[in-house]
Amino acid sequence: MNKPAVISTVVDLRAALAPWRRAGETIALVPTMGALHAGHISLAQLAKRKARRAVASVFVNPTQFAPHEDFAKYPRTFEADLERLTAAGIDAVFSPTPQVMYPSGFATTVSLEGPAKADLEDRFRPTHFAGVATVVAKLLIQSAADVAIFGEKDFQQLAVIRQMAKDLDLPVEIIGAPTVREHDGLAMSSRNVYLDTEERRRAPLLHATLQDVARRIAAGEEADAALATGRQALADAGFVLDYLELRDAASLAVVAKPFMQPLRLLVAAKLGKTRLIDNIAVSLS
Ligand code: PAF
Repeated sequence: MNKPAVISTVVDLRAALAPWRRAGETIALVPTMGALHAGHISLAQLAKRKARRAVASVFVNPTQFAPHEDFAKYPRTFEADLERLTAAGIDAVFSPTPQVMYPSGFATTVSLEGPAKADLEDRFRPTHFAGVATVVAKLLIQSAADVAIFGEKDFQQLAVIRQMAKDLDLPVEIIGAPTVREHDGLAMSSRNVYLDTEERRRAPLLHATLQDVARRIAAGEEADAALATGRQALADAGFVLDYLELRDAASLAVVAKPFMQPLRLLVAAKLGKTRLIDNIAVSLS
């Protein structure tokens, strides 16, 4: 197993990728914040299938955390991450410091309307997507990757990144990869480690509720009634709900009957101190 090069500056990243590009090899980028789990590894494996070379970035991006959020305590497990990325066949790991990404005097922010203002995550994390869009734009420009892979678990983030790459004419294909789940349906997340034993036992109800609401809507129940049932089920189980919404899967706009377009159910809720998000497609046959 070849150890990937570990690169920490933009100059070194460009120097490492240049020979691959000269040789006509395609490059896939997997942006991460580390604390890697099987979901991230599935993105790395998909990157290897989509391009000749795969680069993963590991950077806990300060600008996407609000001051009261968990930036300081976000799990940092670089050595274990490197082992997993090596096993997944990643060719290079870009792990810059905050000073490399945001040197003194840094003054640019990429902020969007559209899916970034869908009244979902943005209602509760108003500065989050500008931080995400800014760092992802930088990573795409720094790597000049042909494709970039993001998990569908962060569904609004994926829509924001697609919109940003399109609006900025970035010559990259953005690929969304299916959410990887624990055996009981809980979506894998680096933040699941914050759940205590009792919360972990209840956490799969988030996915089970999405499935139940999706089934009800697919069976013809009024969406508002199905959503109300889902919201109540989560409250009864001790979740503090931020939102449970049915949206257009591409624009994340509010939808009304008759539903003609692909639909997505999205949820965010707190269990104790841990905020969980999840989403699934709603298939109308
Ligand atoms: O999804 C994440 O881990 C982050 O938001 C990303 C895309 C790596 C940007 O920091």
